[in-house]
Amino acid sequence: MATCRAVWMRLAPRSVLQKFLRAMPPLTATAPVLVFDSGVGGLSVLAEIRGLLPQAPIVYAADNAWHPYGQKSEHEIAARVPALLGRLAERYHPRVIVIACNTAATIALADVRSALDLPIVGTVPAVKPAALASVNRAIAVLGTAATVRQPYVDRLVAEFASDCLVIRHGSPELVALAEAKLRGTPAPADAVAAAVAPIFAQPGAERVDQVVLACTHFPLLRDELAAACPPGVALVDSGAGIARRTVFLTQGQEWADTPSDGIAVFTANTPDLPLLMPALNGYGLTRIDLL
Ligand code: DGL
Repeated sequence: MATCRAVWMRLAPRSVLQKFLRAMPPLTATAPVLVFDSGVGGLSVLAEIRGLLPQAPIVYAADNAWHPYGQKSEHEIAARVPALLGRLAERYHPRVIVIACNTAATIALADVRSALDLPIVGTVPAVKPAALASVNRAIAVLGTAATVRQPYVDRLVAEFASDCLVIRHGSPELVALAEAKLRGTPAPADAVAAAVAPIFAQPGAERVDQVVLACTHFPLLRDELAAACPPGVALVDSGAGIARRTVFLTQGQEWADTPSDGIAVFTANTPDLPLLMPALNGYGLTRIDLL
């Protein structure tokens, strides 16, 4: 049986908390995998999860009211994400939550895990595989401004890439271009090239042969980014690893024979949501909810 305990419930009177825990239903074959991001970036992770778990019911949650996370402070993100995931868990009773957002995970993963009695999969920059693959011992970490300054990234670099030149770059522009692309506006090649140019202007950057896509929005621009980077540079992301971890954490569980329609849940009813419907449908998300 999966139970969840929202962090804000810790502040509630004991009688309220006990009532909430008693009210949690047992894990059923229809319990969804809940994939969370600030916006549409987590769809790149959802695609990998669907590839391995086609029968999984999906709830995709986007905190569009508060997007973009990459421009927020650590304090703001740490305060918002556990409480929001608690509300989502209470409403949808997921079997597992996937934080498909490097910014949220590198800042708030530990807080979320201590707040919720549910398996939580975090997304962290793929520094390890990039360093393993780098022939020239030089990699770039391309994420949001908030992600690339995190101590979490310092630790990944110290553990897995200490013998590499590591160039970090935060790009809100690429996040905005990915959001626009999924609303039907293609990303102009010159805008993508301008967004990655600061990486290749750094001393030693001519040796970079691996670029870590440390924001889940960026695989949505994989072709555009590949065209904007120098020839021979590989793009590495965490999506496949997250999907494998999700499979591992749900092994042995029951799934419905036919997957139910996927749900996309947003935190704000913005006028541009209809523009997203074709892209959401392409990821099997056919119903929109508001939190
Ligand atoms: N997709 C998110 C990430 O992986 C963040 C985008 C944003 O909200 O700035 O970090």
